[in-house]
Amino acid sequence: MRVLRRVLLFGVIGLMLLCGVGAAGFGWLWSSAALSTAGEVDFSNRLAVPPLAPSRVDGEGRRVFNLRAGEGRHDFGNGPVKTWGFNGDYLGPTLRAKRGEQVVVNVRNGLAEDTTVHWHGMHLPAKMDGGPHQMVRPGETWSPRWRVDQPASTLWYHPHPHGQTAEHVYRGLAGMFIVDDPKTSSADLPSQYGVDDIPVLVQDKQFDGERLDESTSQTSGVGILGDTIAVNGTVAPYLDVTTEQVRLRLLNGSTARVYDFGFADERPFALVGTDGGLLPAPQHTKRVALSPGERAEIVVTMRAGERAVLRSFPPPLGLDPLSSRFTGGDDTLDVLQLRAAKRLADRPEVPERLVDVPRLDPAEAAQRRDFRLSGHNINREKMDMSRIDTTVEKGAVEVWSVFNNDGQPHSFHVHDVQFQVVSRDGGAPPPHLSGWKDTLYLPPSVRFEIIMRFADYADPDAPYMYHCHVLFHEDAGMMGQFVVVEPGQKPGNPAGGHGGHG
Ligand code: C2O
Ligand code: CU
Ligand code: CU
Repeated sequence: MRVLRRVLLFGVIGLMLLCGVGAAGFGWLWSSAALSTAGEVDFSNRLAVPPLAPSRVDGEGRRVFNLRAGEGRHDFGNGPVKTWGFNGDYLGPTLRAKRGEQVVVNVRNGLAEDTTVHWHGMHLPAKMDGGPHQMVRPGETWSPRWRVDQPASTLWYHPHPHGQTAEHVYRGLAGMFIVDDPKTSSADLPSQYGVDDIPVLVQDKQFDGERLDESTSQTSGVGILGDTIAVNGTVAPYLDVTTEQVRLRLLNGSTARVYDFGFADERPFALVGTDGGLLPAPQHTKRVALSPGERAEIVVTMRAGERAVLRSFPPPLGLDPLSSRFTGGDDTLDVLQLRAAKRLADRPEVPERLVDVPRLDPAEAAQRRDFRLSGHNINREKMDMSRIDTTVEKGAVEVWSVFNNDGQPHSFHVHDVQFQVVSRDGGAPPPHLSGWKDTLYLPPSVRFEIIMRFADYADPDAPYMYHCHVLFHEDAGMMGQFVVVEPGQKPGNPAGGHGGHG
């Protein structure tokens, strides 16, 4: 498919050049493929902040949340369009739990079709993971339960039905899940939700008259690339800032677009956290790139009365110029305006040391494995719900080498665990990859080694997923399944043992 599309694209371009319509036609295609909204967004809408999900503690001491996926209508600025949401019209509330707590989430499917809810970044039993084997039928309620046991972090939840993840997320099924843990956090970071600690869920949308346009780009090969940015569902958003320091929990909730976040005035900010928790030390930087599914926590310093614009600059995709241009690689997009009040409340400076991130040691690895991503396949195979691709032993530390073997943008996401990046092309990883990660952007032809421990939850029949988080690729089969087993145990049968589509 991809090859065909590129052959077609080059063919069309070649033909146009030959015909002499040529330069003009290609020029049009080329220039219309780069988007810039820099300086053009009026920031007239107050940023919506997803509510914290209410919860109750049940008789067994478990924190219980209720989520209902349903249809709704949401106004992105040009009148309401049909959307999906959790407990509302679009997106979902922010779930929040403390390390050590038992949680139960009652997930009710109020849609007319099957879906699932996956807890992206969460360490939990495979049957609770909400992957493609835990389908929830219309009208049914699925109630996964687990004990939260990982560092303070910004995780998220979204559907994972095989072949339809992109559409379900794009229509609006996504939300944040914040894990709290004083031992792996810092009291000196802004932490008042909605005041100085702000969820920033960034998505790109496109519209077709009165509808959300779900058509996939003919020239990019990555699926939906929208021209309109929504943050927490708000287009052209501004945020009133009332404190000297503000923490933004950035989540790329887009299906395909990669962002390179920075500020229009090039002010530096402190990168304090990545997917699975805080970094050992803040990284003072002007840019942080996030591919779909990745998160970053940043702390921005504001002066009284000023305005600052969070912008996505052309992301460093590492592709050839043609592919890059048609995949959003030359796009500049204004995202969110911060408006500082005339007087700002004091906040402490970001501390120079944040948390301990104990390094996993590659010498301890029980296994090394290779994963090559190419043409919607991983190691030459497409996702098969009934095939277990990888079996790991409970407790084992493993090193996985992951490699993008074609010219397209890919990423690698592993369920159940947070990993560390051991090396990038044999060298030390850059500082922004010095913390816990669950999703990693893979530029073509760059080898990454990642290391992780599969600490708990053996179940030979219930697989976890690893996949490219460009959702169009995932849906096309760029995904594999692994099980965690007791030492010496054999993998079982993923179709057996639980409901849903096997
Ligand atoms: Cu965010 Cu397997 O997904
Ligand atoms: Cu996930
Ligand atoms: Cu991919």
